[in-house]
Amino acid sequence: MNSADGAAVVVGVDGSEPATRAVLLAAREAVRRNRPLRVVHGFIWPLLGVPVAAPAGAPPHAGLRHQAEQLVADAVNAAQAQESGLRITGEIIDGEAAAVLIGESPTAALIVLGDRGLGGFASLVIGSVALQVTAYAECPVLVARGTARDTGPVVAGVDGSALSRAAVEFAAEAASCRGAPLRVVYARPGGRAAQAGEEERLLAESVAGIAERWPDVPITREAVHARPVAALTEASRDAQLVVVGRQGRGELSGLLLGSVSQGILHRSACPVAVVRTPG
Ligand SMILES: Nc1ncnc2c1ncn2[C@@H]1O[C@H](COP(=O)(O)OP(=O)(O)OP(=O)(O)O)[C@@H](O)[C@H]1O
Ligand SMILES: [Mg+2]
Repeated sequence: MNSADGAAVVVGVDGSEPATRAVLLAAREAVRRNRPLRVVHGFIWPLLGVPVAAPAGAPPHAGLRHQAEQLVADAVNAAQAQESGLRITGEIIDGEAAAVLIGESPTAALIVLGDRGLGGFASLVIGSVALQVTAYAECPVLVARGTARDTGPVVAGVDGSALSRAAVEFAAEAASCRGAPLRVVYARPGGRAAQAGEEERLLAESVAGIAERWPDVPITREAVHARPVAALTEASRDAQLVVVGRQGRGELSGLLLGSVSQGILHRSACPVAVVRTPG
């Protein structure tokens, strides 16, 4: 996908603090990719039959619709204050948040979300909207976990599958538009001896063609003897971004988001991108 197709970076907002962090991350990402930013709020109340206008006689700002308009306007203003030249639009779409955002995904370049929102379950590390959208979106999804930094490598986790190929391609593009190095990590739990050359072969296959397509991106490849989630969590501590893949469809396991993707979403010290493999 190239920036000439006009697809926007879409950010989902619910007025929460994590969503505001996502807005600032999304604004930066839109500038890096030379794309417009589209701020979207899924507005559930009309579907539930709740009156959304201010009651007769009440001030106009009393209504739920007005609150939704205000939170979208606040997000647009925050993004514009950070990135003055960025083209930004805001929209309220009636519907349940995950459905609204998944509906945006076929035409979005990227969807950006907070890790949590306004919801109540303190025990959740990642909110249900964020989890559903990362599992079902047709475009890559960036979750604003941990600390957003402008320095450090972009890390791609690979396992030799087609899934990790899509992750490496996304990571290389992300590294190029940041002027950052790409660090490709293959984690293999200890206790199982690798065939001589096996790891090196898998890593070489994972990055085949990448150096030619992204000649400006320095690439390092590493085999780490650790569990994948532990290795990627460790790598996230000084990274700008960690990128992992997921299945296009989950018929086999019924689980669209693999255990490594879920694990790193829960534990990463920096933002995480989950990239869908086409098909
Ligand atoms: N109504 C919404 N419209 C648009 N984006 C939303 C909406 N609700 C949540 N989001 C996006 O999803 C992110 C994660 O919020 P999520 O709702 O998943 O977490 P939560 O509210 O803590 O948990 P839950 O809703 O499962 O109780 C938010 O930071 C925001 O980016
Ligand atoms: Mg929520």
